[in-house]
Amino acid sequence: MELYLDSAIIEEVEEINSWGIISGITTNPTLIAKAGKDFKETVIKICEIIKGPVSAEVTCEDLEGMIKQGKEIARWHDSIVIKLPCNVNGLKACKELSNDGIQTNLTLCFSVNQALLCSAAGASFISPFIGRLEDINHNGIELIREIKEVFEKHNIKTKIIAASVRTPEHVSASALAGADIATIPYTLFDKLINHPLTEKGIEKFMSDWKKTI
Ligand code: G3P
Repeated sequence: MELYLDSAIIEEVEEINSWGIISGITTNPTLIAKAGKDFKETVIKICEIIKGPVSAEVTCEDLEGMIKQGKEIARWHDSIVIKLPCNVNGLKACKELSNDGIQTNLTLCFSVNQALLCSAAGASFISPFIGRLEDINHNGIELIREIKEVFEKHNIKTKIIAASVRTPEHVSASALAGADIATIPYTLFDKLINHPLTEKGIEKFMSDWKKTI
């Protein structure tokens, strides 16, 4: 499973990129607003840092606006993937952009049927939201597992991005459920790598080593 960072904050992108483990970035309007900088400048800067897909979301809700904005954003950089919502306009825009050779990431996916329709519209990526499903007492990991099973059964090439990932458990469970990618918030990365037994082990190795010198 590939790891993406879910952030639009340049310092966060630079830091996690320096770990050598991420292969893409996802953003959304909330993350862009949180970063507090110009949308276009931010996205282009991220594309210059990361070698890999960078998802940038349309903010127009009408079909014509969605397509126009999607095509415009896609021109900013070759790495850009256009994020569209899992609704009827999102499907139509996805079809149009895919026909133009533009990569798409269909976001806010909460069901297998949404994933199926998005793949039929040519989506490059689909983003099921684990945490938000759990917020309403549904099993987000089970959704990932089901989408994976359906995609494998029907030879569907759309890649599954586990999104709305909030805990270390979400990351390992997404990998086990067959997600192709997990997009992870900045603060979670420390929790994924740090382990008290690793720290304790390093201390013991170092104190034993120092006794020999
Ligand atoms: O990847 C989608 C993410 O940014 C949404 O996360 O925690 O707001 O549901 P959350």
